[in-house]
Amino acid sequence: MSNPPLEPSTTKPVPVVLDVDTGVDDALALMMAVRHPALDVRAITCVAGNADVDQVVTNSLAVLDVLDAPDVPVARGAAQPLLEVARDARHVHGADGLGAQGLPASSRTPFAGGALELLRMTILDSPEPVTLVPLAPMTNLALLLRAYPEVKDNLAGIIAMGGAAEGGNATAVAEFNVWHDPEAAAIVLGSGVPVTLYGLDVFSQVVVEAETYEALRQDPDPAVALAGRLLAHSHEVIRSDPRVGHGGLIGDAGAVCAVAEPGLITTHRWPVHVALAPGLTRGQTVVDRRYVLGEDAVHGVDSLGHLVDVAVGIDAEATRDLFLTTIGAGPQASHADDTARAVQR
Ligand code: RIB
Ligand code: CA
Repeated sequence: MSNPPLEPSTTKPVPVVLDVDTGVDDALALMMAVRHPALDVRAITCVAGNADVDQVVTNSLAVLDVLDAPDVPVARGAAQPLLEVARDARHVHGADGLGAQGLPASSRTPFAGGALELLRMTILDSPEPVTLVPLAPMTNLALLLRAYPEVKDNLAGIIAMGGAAEGGNATAVAEFNVWHDPEAAAIVLGSGVPVTLYGLDVFSQVVVEAETYEALRQDPDPAVALAGRLLAHSHEVIRSDPRVGHGGLIGDAGAVCAVAEPGLITTHRWPVHVALAPGLTRGQTVVDRRYVLGEDAVHGVDSLGHLVDVAVGIDAEATRDLFLTTIGAGPQASHADDTARAVQR
């Protein structure tokens, strides 16, 4: 039986730090986080992933400008994974990481101390525990936890977009954020900080139909119009997938929705093992869903993973509508979605 939904977020805004590789869907996640009243975005840290880290910083700052966001500190983090070489996702996010939106460069300047220092001070200086929301390869978080383990005492938890119980996208079995830096993911999952994995199993369910995102593109709010263009880009990329190709994915923004409203997802606490051996399975998150003792335990084979709350279900329509309403798209956009789906039936 899946765990009951986590307690809804308290009335006091939840202090969060987003770690991003902006990124088409990271941009949608930034919109969701900055505009949701239950989230108090304390910092944004950037890491190599979808694009190189300097492009990620540029993209994140530019999106904050479009959002007319408050002066949230943004910092540059790791330019490479711990062991691997950086392998970007330009075939998904475009050469500039944002699907060539042509956003003007921001006049905002990144935090001079870098991501690790921004993470360390943001967490240790917070009067209440901080929730980390990695939406990218977990290189920054792994380095943080190794360099400053004391931060664990003031972390409420980690809600990570990463991994999958079934299948992959970077490879047949590995999800991109884990595949990009498997060692970092293993360090984070094994850190002892409570981890919820918002993996591909739920990530791939939250779709905004073309009729809706086309309406967003006409919105007078430049952030909503940008969301429409980003969703259109996402749809072009996944159009060939019969399971999700009927619209654009909100992607990482869904993980932020789950932070704001934990009841949107259902989770199950299972051991998760990150496959590190070179070869086909490297970067796979092996989710151990057995209920009966296996021979590995009986014969002392150390194949058990780290206990993680794996997102096994999501109210995809409610998540989509929360995203649309939060960014300011208004109810008509989600209604258009339902109309589009009704027509399809
Ligand atoms: O596998 C999807 C994840 O990889 C998302 O976070 C996307 O932005 C990329 O980072
Ligand atoms: Ca991402």
